[in-house]
Amino acid sequence: MIYLDNASTSFPKPGSVYEFMDAFFRRAGVNPGRGGYDMCREAGDLLDATRRLLTEFFNGTNPDRLCFGHNSTDALNLAIFGLLKKGDHAVTTTLEHNAVLRPLYHLEKYGGVEVDRVPFDAAGFVHPEDIARRFKRNTRLVVVNHASNVIGTVQPVREIGRLCRERGVLLAVDASQTAGKRPIDVRADNIDVLAFTGHKSLLGPTGIGGLVVGEGVTIRHTRAGGTGIRSADRLHLEEYPYRLEYGTPNIMGVAGLNAGVKWVMEQGLEALEAREMDLTTRLRDGLRAIEGTVLYCQDDLADHLSVLSFNLRGMEAGEAGGMLDTDYGIACRAGLHCAPLVHEQLGTDKAKGSVRFGIGPFNTEDDIRAAVEAVAEVAEAARQRRGAQPKIS
Ligand code: ALA
Repeated sequence: MIYLDNASTSFPKPGSVYEFMDAFFRRAGVNPGRGGYDMCREAGDLLDATRRLLTEFFNGTNPDRLCFGHNSTDALNLAIFGLLKKGDHAVTTTLEHNAVLRPLYHLEKYGGVEVDRVPFDAAGFVHPEDIARRFKRNTRLVVVNHASNVIGTVQPVREIGRLCRERGVLLAVDASQTAGKRPIDVRADNIDVLAFTGHKSLLGPTGIGGLVVGEGVTIRHTRAGGTGIRSADRLHLEEYPYRLEYGTPNIMGVAGLNAGVKWVMEQGLEALEAREMDLTTRLRDGLRAIEGTVLYCQDDLADHLSVLSFNLRGMEAGEAGGMLDTDYGIACRAGLHCAPLVHEQLGTDKAKGSVRFGIGPFNTEDDIRAAVEAVAEVAEAARQRRGAQPKIS
């Protein structure tokens, strides 16, 4: 099997992730901050150390403002529902994943919030001034996907953030695809709230993610529960990180994330990117040379992740993806990728989405060669089918 579904979740993880999770779970896999015994302290120390590590990684201001949750969807729900209220206006883009689209649709339908969705251009980029043009007196929040999980384009968040700051609008960034792939500096990039997930390019397990919350940003409570401290308080705690953390944390997820981020830092983002983008360029060129392939990708891969989407003329995305999996052992993701507006804008909703390859740090040139050969054969099957169809005069 050749794994090319890294945009969905990275696989495999570095050896150190499996090793550390196993060792930590056996030694101190208990509830952090809920007791004074040694194992409990060790678990609490890991939680604190991982907050510091990720705060450094994203150049945050204060580790206490890094709150752990389950994944980006979870983190974005807390941010979006906790920042917007009745009468507010929000701006987002058609590049978003349902992690952003659906909370905003819910607020539009039930919460009295008005939402504008800015389209991307023919190359796959949202223009900062198109966002700023939507600003109104009551605009409170802009939510932007740092990089599309469908077409891989990386958005100019720094400039978007600059325009937001000028108007006193908050910027929330969905870094699901970029965290661990591209440098993110929440201060220089003018990001007020950053949502990340641990299981993609940060190379941790599923079920761990979180928010980095800027100084002065107050996210209202939309949940309440156990914090492990001040148990007699009736209301959920006001101070970060407890403010946005609820119940027993996923300490095993934190352990894996800790080891994953360390591995990424050791390798260096630049080195990882150079290698993955070299493979992406080979894959893009290989796919482009196959007759009948429609690739949703530009010539210039400078602001691009190692994510490529395509279709084969005459075949629905799901069928092509299924053949790649069943007949060639190539794991990819076909369909709408939880980002329906991207496909609506591309017109790929008619082919029921696209086939997507996501390259990760452990893919090789051989994987790319095999994928291109497999797509060529599936494209040939699609071509024969097109040829066999009766012509309508
Ligand atoms: N958001 C993930 C993807 O793009 C699951 O596949």
